[in-house]
Amino acid sequence: MNKLLTTLALLPVLSTSSFVLAADAQTPAELKAEAKTVIQTLAKNLMGELKTTAQKEGLPAAIEVCNTKAIPMTDDVSGMKGWQISRTSLKLRNPQNAPDAWERKVLEQFAGQATQGADLKALAYSEVITDNSGQKKLRLMKAIPVAEQCLACHGSELKPAVSQKLQALYPHDNAKGFKAGDLRGAFSLEKAL
Ligand code: HEC
Repeated sequence: MNKLLTTLALLPVLSTSSFVLAADAQTPAELKAEAKTVIQTLAKNLMGELKTTAQKEGLPAAIEVCNTKAIPMTDDVSGMKGWQISRTSLKLRNPQNAPDAWERKVLEQFAGQATQGADLKALAYSEVITDNSGQKKLRLMKAIPVAEQCLACHGSELKPAVSQKLQALYPHDNAKGFKAGDLRGAFSLEKAL
């Protein structure tokens, strides 16, 4: 059983990496430009969906949309140009967005830089790592700052209907009480090299 799983897990990795090495070696600048496009696509899709629903049906409905669509929409963008993308934070609303050890380390680094007054819009970090199967990957994180339009659902003065909806969907919500300019979390991306 174990052996079969290992073999299955290795197959796609091996075929992609030989392809990438042979035909598709990219410069660090190209990789970063690609990552930027992937992040912008996801941010645009999420904000678009949120705005439309909030305007048409109000904030509680928009929360419902985040609850059912944010992760599937993130998965849809994943795979774009070979990148996996997710959103994570040290102050989580949805526990499914919890950081892994590497992401936690980078988020803590961002939080430290934020306390020292770093410009969150420019805060990013990347590193080449080797995963358990020996595959080299570029991992990259980009900070997400809190903007004014996020406060209706992540600020400290939430409307009663918003609070109620959040309480019902996220009983362990830790993503309230933010101010504009705070560090909300980060986009996290990886691509096999
Ligand atoms: C209409 C309410 C609403 C607004 C406005 C909103 N969010 Fe959220 N946000 C949510 C909900 C609900 C979730 C949980 C989504 C899920 O279940 O995956 C969430 C999750 C997140 C996450 C994923 C990490 C986690 O805690 O689960 C990030 C990052 C995030 N929001 C950032 C922002 C930013 C930045 C803005 C403003 C640009 C914003 N949000 C505006 C409701 C909102």
